[in-house]
Amino acid sequence: MSETARLILENQEIELPVITGTENEKALDISKLRASTGYITLDPGFKNTGSTQSAITFLDGEKGILRYRGYAIEELAENASFLEVAYLLIYGELPNTDELEYFTNSITHHTLLHENMKRFFDAFPIGAHPMGMLSSMISSLSTFYPESQEQNRSVTDIERTIHRIIAKLPTLAAQAYKHNKGLPIMYPKNELSYEGNFLHMMFGVPTEKYDVNPIVEKALNKLLILHADHEQNCSTATVRVVGSSQANLYSSISAGIAALWGPLHGGANQAVIEMLEQIKNDGGDLDKWINKAKDKTDSFRLMGFGHRVYKNFDPRATIIKKAADEVLEALGVEDPILNIAKQLEAVALSDEYFVQRGLYPNVDFYSGIIYRALGIPTDMFTVMFALGRLPGWIGQWKEMIEHSAPIGRPRQVYIGTTSRPFVPLNKR
Ligand code: CMC
Repeated sequence: MSETARLILENQEIELPVITGTENEKALDISKLRASTGYITLDPGFKNTGSTQSAITFLDGEKGILRYRGYAIEELAENASFLEVAYLLIYGELPNTDELEYFTNSITHHTLLHENMKRFFDAFPIGAHPMGMLSSMISSLSTFYPESQEQNRSVTDIERTIHRIIAKLPTLAAQAYKHNKGLPIMYPKNELSYEGNFLHMMFGVPTEKYDVNPIVEKALNKLLILHADHEQNCSTATVRVVGSSQANLYSSISAGIAALWGPLHGGANQAVIEMLEQIKNDGGDLDKWINKAKDKTDSFRLMGFGHRVYKNFDPRATIIKKAADEVLEALGVEDPILNIAKQLEAVALSDEYFVQRGLYPNVDFYSGIIYRALGIPTDMFTVMFALGRLPGWIGQWKEMIEHSAPIGRPRQVYIGTTSRPFVPLNKR
């Protein structure tokens, strides 16, 4: 017998089906509540609202568990390649050798951009934020590949769009960086790995040979995997909602990139480094900044701390903290910001305010430190997050299409003025 919950509303008893996930997560199905009672549920920020059933990512915020398609993030980060993880997220299973070879080959051969796109870049001001450029450029890809918008697109069209977007995002990201700095662009090199090719396009210059540093390549692989999916976060929910109107994948991903940019979401990695710099330049008085973060009359927050779902620890932060130590040591980089970050973490974690609210370092607290060590400039950090999150967005978009999800359209409780007569201009 299926489980139900009983709700008493205005002396009427309503039965609500209980949905149980494979990890025993429970949900009340309220989808028919309004039709039978006239009531909606109100949950600003969707803090307690499930928008979908999904088989992609499981996370348990209390226990600090994160799994993609059942595989622990720790194992994937240690053993897999980013393209393997991308395949897993999008298609549901780890690829075998032939599948991975086909996938990698297809992505490697779609990395070039239409030459006309150079003119878009030329029109952006020097110093333009790479996230603004990235979001616009991804959206513009739909104009070069109009079949992505066709409603009767075939599985092959969808497949090609998916491969194109994974292939072209690193090229666009590197070109956005080059444009920001006023440097000549570098074309992709097919013999390099996905990460190596990105590094070549970012750091290579036409006049010199660029050798990919394997330590940097490996670190980048790990960082991309750690960011690859995180179930229904702000940008992923955005991708799903935009895609639910049957907008094409390029436009949906462009919207996701825009959502990621904000400092409360992916933009936190840039904000963390700016905050740590500020603390250092201000003399490094940690107590002062902790007190500011606790002061409700002060808008300052400890960036890189807190998470909507993780309330004990963020497993990605644990892996990244260790990786930060390893990468800095391997590259021989000494960064005073790392020491400030560690001290700040120690002070915050012993402070009642942070402990009581379950505020712990999140994925973005240490990722910026590794990006700095790899030579990636601060305003490219959120672009790096977008590169990692792309397969997650795609996997979630694909799942939504395959489930024939209805258009995303929340309701509201209206609190404005009730009906009143129009007042002509000369009488106002
Ligand atoms: N510094 C100080 N106080 C904080 C912080 C912080 N970083 N984060 C939350 N709080 C307090 C908040 O003021 C509130 O206190 P009270 O109960 O007294 O009103 C309480 O903790 C709960 O916070 P909330 O804002 O209601 O929690 P939320 O789930 O809506 O927000 C968050 C989650 C991540 C937006 C928030 O913790 C935050 O702003 N953190 C800093 C930005 C950041 O690092 N974002 C990256 C998130 S991880 C990457 C990603 O996946 O996007």
